[in-house]
Amino acid sequence: MKFQVSANAKRFIEQEAQFGAHNYHPLAVVLSRGEGPFVWDVDNKRYYDFLSAYSAVNQGHCHPKIIEALNQQASTLCLTSRAFYNDCLGPYEEYIHNYFGYDKMLPMNSGAEAVETGLKLARRWAYKVKGVPDEKAVIVVCDGNFHGRTISIVSMSSDPDSYKHYGPYTPGFERVPYNDIVALEKTLKHYADSVAAVLVEPIQGEAGVVVPHDGYLKAIASLCKQYNCLFVADEVQTGIGRTGKLLCCDHENVRPDIVLLGKAISGGVLPISAILADDPIMLTIKPGEHGSTYGGFPLACKVAMAALDVIRDEKLTENAEKLGQIFRNELGNIKCEAISEVRGKGLLNAVVIKPYKGREAWDLCEIMATNGLLAKPTHRHIIRFAPPLVITEAQLRDAIGIIKQSVEQFMD
Ligand SMILES: Cc1ncc(COP(=O)(O)O)c(C=O)c1O
Repeated sequence: MKFQVSANAKRFIEQEAQFGAHNYHPLAVVLSRGEGPFVWDVDNKRYYDFLSAYSAVNQGHCHPKIIEALNQQASTLCLTSRAFYNDCLGPYEEYIHNYFGYDKMLPMNSGAEAVETGLKLARRWAYKVKGVPDEKAVIVVCDGNFHGRTISIVSMSSDPDSYKHYGPYTPGFERVPYNDIVALEKTLKHYADSVAAVLVEPIQGEAGVVVPHDGYLKAIASLCKQYNCLFVADEVQTGIGRTGKLLCCDHENVRPDIVLLGKAISGGVLPISAILADDPIMLTIKPGEHGSTYGGFPLACKVAMAALDVIRDEKLTENAEKLGQIFRNELGNIKCEAISEVRGKGLLNAVVIKPYKGREAWDLCEIMATNGLLAKPTHRHIIRFAPPLVITEAQLRDAIGIIKQSVEQFMD
């Protein structure tokens, strides 16, 4: 069953093809409105959004409290630059200190910038505090990682789609297999005196929601202590309630040295990211040594505080934990040879699809879209299911019904 594209939708798709870079391959649905867990297309057809803009829209589309904060601040003061103080940034920084329990935060915009900042901070700490000889710092990363799209970040990637023909690459990264503590320890031992940090996603989202074994994060934290290097957790996708804890590292009671946040910190309203660390690390960067024109702009401060209020006040983390169990139970119970695995934590889940009669995960996504649910394959055979955390149990069960019906049509 191919997804039917209306003439109205076709117009927008052709416009993008003609005038926009071809760096994405979207499903042929053209969206024009969103509210809570739903989005509507240009023909007013309603869908459950099970991608949530890659987990940016945890609070649901156009959450009224976040939009109110946006509107109020937008008509007051939007951008001042960090050349001056403003009356929003300090309160925001203190709010984040109280919310996440780190001494300090550094505000940026995209997730990739949070990662870049984390890399710079780790290298800076290595030279200033650990005493690594200049230019020798090593950061250990994992196979299958996804941390964004800048030159340095794709230099760490093991995915040719991400890095091929973008060289020359940034040196100073060593890759080890994900979820392999023995390999990590071997590498840390080898580079002991020059290792600055281990950078890890607590669950690898873009790789297809790859969940490491229990104890992996704790073991990383303990190795980092042993080898005197920093544990940097990329929680850009897994953070802010998505996996059923505020941070995914909380599942193992692990406190990383540096936490990278993005996406849902604004509830899908503005590109906002943040880097959290304690003083001995954060204060290694001095005035004039890092920054961004929009980093911590007044509008972002107010939007992020409202978005984080919503997570706490509406108990969205708890909702993710509870509904995630239901989702995995229900999908795990589908008896169908096309589904080879259901995995995830909280409301960050994935289903591995075995091709059937030449049909693949993309075809199932088209069927689901036709039936009113949006999701997208990652790495060809894996479909990620990550609805906004405001979804209710009744809505989730309704959506599960759509997925089950779509799987039946896929097997027809
Ligand atoms: C774990 C992780 N880190 C970083 C990023 C990059 O974020 P952005 O696309 O906002 O630059 C992503 C994006 O998907 C991500 O999943």
